[in-house]
Amino acid sequence: MSAELTYAMIGGGIGANIGLVHRRAIALDGRARLVAGALSSTPERSAESAKELGLDPERSYGTYQELFELESNREDRVDFVSIVTPNDTHYPIAKMALQHGFHVVLDKPATHSSAQAQELCDLAESKGLVCCVTYNYTGYPMIRQARAMVRDGVLGNIRKVFLEYHQDWLATDLESQGHKQASWRVDPTKAGLGGALGDIGTHAENLISFVTGLSMESLYANLQAFVPGRTLDDDVSVMIRYTGGAHGILTASQVCIGESNGISLRVYGDQGGLVWYQDSANDLRVTKVGANPVLYTRSGPGLHRDAVVSSHTPPGHPEGYLEAFSNIYRGAIDRILSLGSGGERADLSRLAELIPGMDDGTQGVRFVEKCVESSQKNTQVNWA
Ligand SMILES: NC(=O)c1ccc[n+]([C@@H]2O[C@H](COP(=O)([O-])OP(=O)(O)OC[C@H]3O[C@@H](n4cnc5c(N)ncnc54)[C@H](O)[C@@H]3O)[C@@H](O)[C@H]2O)c1
Repeated sequence: MSAELTYAMIGGGIGANIGLVHRRAIALDGRARLVAGALSSTPERSAESAKELGLDPERSYGTYQELFELESNREDRVDFVSIVTPNDTHYPIAKMALQHGFHVVLDKPATHSSAQAQELCDLAESKGLVCCVTYNYTGYPMIRQARAMVRDGVLGNIRKVFLEYHQDWLATDLESQGHKQASWRVDPTKAGLGGALGDIGTHAENLISFVTGLSMESLYANLQAFVPGRTLDDDVSVMIRYTGGAHGILTASQVCIGESNGISLRVYGDQGGLVWYQDSANDLRVTKVGANPVLYTRSGPGLHRDAVVSSHTPPGHPEGYLEAFSNIYRGAIDRILSLGSGGERADLSRLAELIPGMDDGTQGVRFVEKCVESSQKNTQVNWA
């Protein structure tokens, strides 16, 4: 299959963490081809990284500024930009990309402040550009099944939601050993207001929002830095009240020894409950009041179309993280292709309708701000 679109990557060079995952997720469908990049924080390292990836040296740029200026003058300019740099750079890079007319796929947390995120939201809207945030866990077929069932009222009125996202890789002061990813994540000038809160708490907030559609009314957060010397949290507990009366408990921690990416979602309504764990991502257990639990499986019968269109592997084989990640890009590419060259809009595919946008990115950053405020004041804060 020849690729329909081309893209540039900012960040994701040699020694980087998530850029490779993005490239693999995009490559799963073969619908977009990496042709340009400003892949690292120095021009020398960027060139080295581009060489390793086999990019045309002419389209290997020393800086993102150079990339946007020179790419935007090319007839074969890239269609979109994937931004996978540390958090502090998201806002200036995404802003410049949008100003130069490029569609954007941006990693989380979207920006350092909700005002910046809102500005990007408005900029993308005013220019008619796609700006999508890689809340990749929403790409799992069984998360989309859960969403459809909750929103179809299968569980009745939602009473309680639990979302846990637990890791252990920051249980020791890895940052003092020169660990690249740890070093910037514990530095507020680079990571932003939140540590674990911004890094994985934003995923947790988005998962609840995606599945339940509940609106936050108020929250009470307790942020903790367990590892001595840290200024940013490495552990977060949040109690949330939702409009309509539901309650949520969200915990995000990077010091839970024995957990590498332990994610669980449990939703309970007055008619039933559902449970999903990332380590058995192909299964969703749903129990109606007074009945035995029913196990929905990714390739089994009776699934909602949102789960069916998000599922790609033959029945019985495990499907996982990369495929879920690729669903975000599939949706983003569909969305970009739906915009005709004259600005007309074709009907969106279901995958395109399901992707997280900058409004979700803005909500995530606002969640960080509200949790920090609540924890600092040791009080419940209103969302509005
Ligand atoms: N969606 C997810 O699940 C997920 C997972 C991990 C990381 N992330 C996010 O992805 C981003 C990157 O995280 P990471 O762990 O890969 O970090 P990293 O430190 O491993 O990689 C960052 C890369 O950006 C490059 N870079 C820095 N400044 C740059 C600049 N001005 N121009 C070009 N390149 C520059 C670095 O050289 C490096 O290659 C962060 O925002 C993080 O929160 C998301």
